[in-house]
Amino acid sequence: MTNPTTNSVGTPIGSDAHSQSVGPNGVIALTDHYLVEKLAHFNRERVPERVVHAKGGGAYGTFVTTHDVSQYTRAALFQPGVETEMLARFSTVAGEQGSPDTWRDPRGFALKFYTSEGNYDLVGNNTPVFFIRDGIKFPDFIRSQKRLPGSHLRDNDMQWDFWTLSPESAHQVTWLMGDRGLPKTWRHMDGFGSHTYQWINAAGERFWVKYHFKTNQGNEFLSQAEADQLAGSDADHHIRDLYGAIEDGDFPSWTLSVQVMPYEDAATYRFNPFDLTKVWPHADYPLIEVGQMTLNRNPENYFAEIEQAAFSPAHFVPGIAASPDKMLQARIFSYADAQRYRIGVNHAELPVNRARTEVHSYDKEGSMRHGFGSPAAPVYAPNSFGGPAADPAAAGDDRGWEMDGELVRSAITLHPEDDDFGQAGTLYREVLDEPARERLVANIVGHVGKTRVPEIRERALQYWKNVDADLGARVEAGLTPIVEPRTSLASEPVRTPAVF
Ligand code: HEM
Repeated sequence: MTNPTTNSVGTPIGSDAHSQSVGPNGVIALTDHYLVEKLAHFNRERVPERVVHAKGGGAYGTFVTTHDVSQYTRAALFQPGVETEMLARFSTVAGEQGSPDTWRDPRGFALKFYTSEGNYDLVGNNTPVFFIRDGIKFPDFIRSQKRLPGSHLRDNDMQWDFWTLSPESAHQVTWLMGDRGLPKTWRHMDGFGSHTYQWINAAGERFWVKYHFKTNQGNEFLSQAEADQLAGSDADHHIRDLYGAIEDGDFPSWTLSVQVMPYEDAATYRFNPFDLTKVWPHADYPLIEVGQMTLNRNPENYFAEIEQAAFSPAHFVPGIAASPDKMLQARIFSYADAQRYRIGVNHAELPVNRARTEVHSYDKEGSMRHGFGSPAAPVYAPNSFGGPAADPAAAGDDRGWEMDGELVRSAITLHPEDDDFGQAGTLYREVLDEPARERLVANIVGHVGKTRVPEIRERALQYWKNVDADLGARVEAGLTPIVEPRTSLASEPVRTPAVF
């Protein structure tokens, strides 16, 4: 026998098919509270989608530390042999919740580790760099990648306008236009912490680190034509692939390695080590293996466990801390703020976000609060009644770095090889092989070829010449002249689809 249906407070109800009405065909009654509840709750089923990375999917798994990196960090999860439950969420950046998984875009690579010292989140991408180096540009950057205010269309002119006026984007755009911009599946892509973070060992010594998650499935990608086809035939291609693989017991895994820079090197390194548009060449700082991440359990409820998952770059644990990267600092504010709006002030209480350790916070009340302490527990600190006491020795964010200077709005280059185009050129010349270079050229030509503002087209060409003269020449040779020039973003609706 099945359970009787109840309303939200457990009272059995009589029908899910007929509202109460005055006579079988008469008007319906407001006293039909169950009908009202059903309609009203339905109207509130959605929470705002993430302002970026709205389309995604995820799974639970395990991280095992297989190598001894205790000389660099005292973080409990990175001690040899320690196994930590975790959650991963992968996503596209610019698309909305229903948008195709196979649009060209960086992919989000967000990880939450439920460690014995509280939750540690590493919220990265499938590329090691980013488009900008100061968080104040982030809202402008994202708006340029989303939709026009009037037509609500995405727009190649808008994208290239922002990128070419922000030349620090060149390295990330080169990655994006290459094979990594269209991973075959989420299982077939690497993940990166991207920022430089700080690791602190038991002796209090500090190091700068970058995280690299290498896919054990091998890096594979889609051609533009395959991605375009899938965007129409199976917009959820990447969600389906991950979910299906895990259901089949074919658990995807990644090997985590880190690059470690001695604390003192930062001042004199050839690149600014805290500039998110730069990598550290492996010849300078080789990869040091740390452990294995395996995804082995699908969520049972997408909304509760993935949509309401709240990842934050502010969630550090003892032994791991922030760095002078300005982007990271902006992010440390931004995520919890977004989640208070998107999910609610008590989002950390939800099962997917809840720490697996005991929480002894003085935060209290707020919308939808359900956890509370004993009535005798003091709600303020300091107190004389045995309430939790902050412990500087246990804290994770206690190690900073030296700073000296006036409050300014500027970025001064102190490192000899800080420029906007250098590493993008190295990627083109030294990392990509010739077939990958050919695909890069074709993708750029396809994308820039959709720009219709002559000045923006001209700047885009110069941008690629600045990355590499040969690349610029090949892009120039591939482009055909603009047929319908356009002078403003609002002028003349675009009749041919934009390319993403
Ligand atoms: C999501 C802001 C840069 C990776 C988000 C969200 C915000 C945001 C507000 C939505 C959070 C939510 O509602 O749960 C920013 C700002 C940035 C920035 C202000 C620059 C200052 C980056 C960078 C990366 C990144 C550099 C990668 C290296 C992600 C990922 C997500 C995300 C993966 C999705 C997390 C998830 O799966 O829930 N970002 N972001 N973001 N961001 Fe950023």
